[in-house]
Amino acid sequence: MKQIVITKKGGPEVLKVKEVSDLVPNPGEVRISVRATGLNFADIMTRMGVYPDAPKFPCVVGYEVSGVIDKISPSVDPKWLGKEVLAISKFKGQAEQVVVPLDQVFEKPKSMSFEQAAAFPVNYLTAYQILIAMGGLRSNETLLIHNAGGGVGLAALEIANHIGAETFGTASQGKHEFLKKKGLKHAIDYRNQDWKAELLKLTQGRGVDMIMDPIGGKNMKWSYQALSSTGRVALFGLSTATERGLNGKLQKIKMLFQTPIFHSFQLLLANKGVFGVNMARLWHEKRKIRLWVDDLMEGQRQGWINPHVDKVFSFKDIGEAHSYIEERKNIGKVILIP
Ligand SMILES: NC(=O)c1ccc[n+]([C@@H]2O[C@H](COP(=O)([O-])OP(=O)(O)OC[C@H]3O[C@@H](n4cnc5c(N)ncnc54)[C@H](OP(=O)(O)O)[C@@H]3O)[C@@H](O)[C@H]2O)c1
Repeated sequence: MKQIVITKKGGPEVLKVKEVSDLVPNPGEVRISVRATGLNFADIMTRMGVYPDAPKFPCVVGYEVSGVIDKISPSVDPKWLGKEVLAISKFKGQAEQVVVPLDQVFEKPKSMSFEQAAAFPVNYLTAYQILIAMGGLRSNETLLIHNAGGGVGLAALEIANHIGAETFGTASQGKHEFLKKKGLKHAIDYRNQDWKAELLKLTQGRGVDMIMDPIGGKNMKWSYQALSSTGRVALFGLSTATERGLNGKLQKIKMLFQTPIFHSFQLLLANKGVFGVNMARLWHEKRKIRLWVDDLMEGQRQGWINPHVDKVFSFKDIGEAHSYIEERKNIGKVILIP
C-alpha cells in the first residue's frame, strides 16, 4: 500500500509517495481502506519544520480519513467489516490504509460523500470545541473568525450562523464574495487593512464577544484588545510561524516572544477570557468527542452542517496540494485521494 511520506524538512519536493507492506490491526483496532484523507495547515507547518507537535522525519501525517473497514482484529464485532466510516487518526492517515482503535471510528452518513466525510473531523470538532464546548457562543453575541475562508473558518461560520450570532471574518480579498454567500455578515481584508481598526469601526468601538485566533504572535495581542467586556479569545493555531524571512527555529522564537502572556489579575480586571484549543491533544477524550460528533452529525442531517470541499488532489500531486494551501488559494477543505 502507498503512503505519503514527508522525508525531511523542506519545500513540497520533500514529499514522496512510498510503497510499504499492508497493515495488520492490533487488538481493538480496525483497518480502513482509505478513500479520502484531509490535508491540514498543520501538515504544511510540519513539512516546514515549524509545527511543535510534529513527529520526527521521515513521517507520515494525516489526522482524518474516510473509507471502508476492510480488516478487523479478532476482538472487534464483525458487523464493522465493510462499513463506510470516517475516523480520526493521530498521524498516518495520508495513506491507502490506516489502522485505528475502533473508538476513533464513526459511521459515515450515506448522504455524505467520502470527500466530505474526510473534511469533517478536524475542522468541525475544532470549531465545535471553540464555539460551543469552551466558548459558549450565544445568539445575541458577535464573533470574529480569523482565516474565515479556511476549513476551520467555514465550519465555524456554519455553526455560528446556526446559533444566530453576528459574524465578522478576516480573509484574503478574493474569498469575500464566497464568504458573504455563506452567510458571513462582515468580511475584512486583513492582508491590506488594519483588521482591528476596521472591526472597531464596524462595532462602534465596542469590539466583539468572541474571537477565534489561529495566527498567534502579535495578532493574539490585537485579538485580546479587540474583545468587548465578557469577551473571550481562543488561540488555536500559530500560522504566523510560517511567515517567510527567518529560518524555522528563529521564526518560532520570534513568534513565542510576540505572543502575549496573560496574568489572571489582568483578566479579572478586564472581564475577559483567554483559552487554548488543540484537537491533536484531545483524542483521549473519547466520550466528549463522540458526543460532539453526534451533535454535529445531527446538524448534518438537519442540513446546517455541510462540509465544503474546495479541491481534491490525488496522492501523486501531494506537492501541488501543499502549495495550494501555502499560497492561500484554498476556500475550505483540501482533500487527498489515493
Ligand atoms: N488547534 C487545533 O486543534 C487546530 C485544528 C485545526 C486547525 N488549526 C489551525 O487553524 C488554522 C487554520 O487551519 P485550517 O485547516 O482552517 O486552514 P486551511 O483550510 O489550510 O486554510 C489556510 C488559510 O489560512 C490563511 N493563512 C493565514 N496565515 C497564513 C500563512 N502564513 N500562510 C498561508 N496561509 C495563511 C490563508 O487564507 P487567507 O489568506 O484567506 O486568510 C489560507 O488559505 C491553522 O493555523 C491551523 O494550524 C488548529
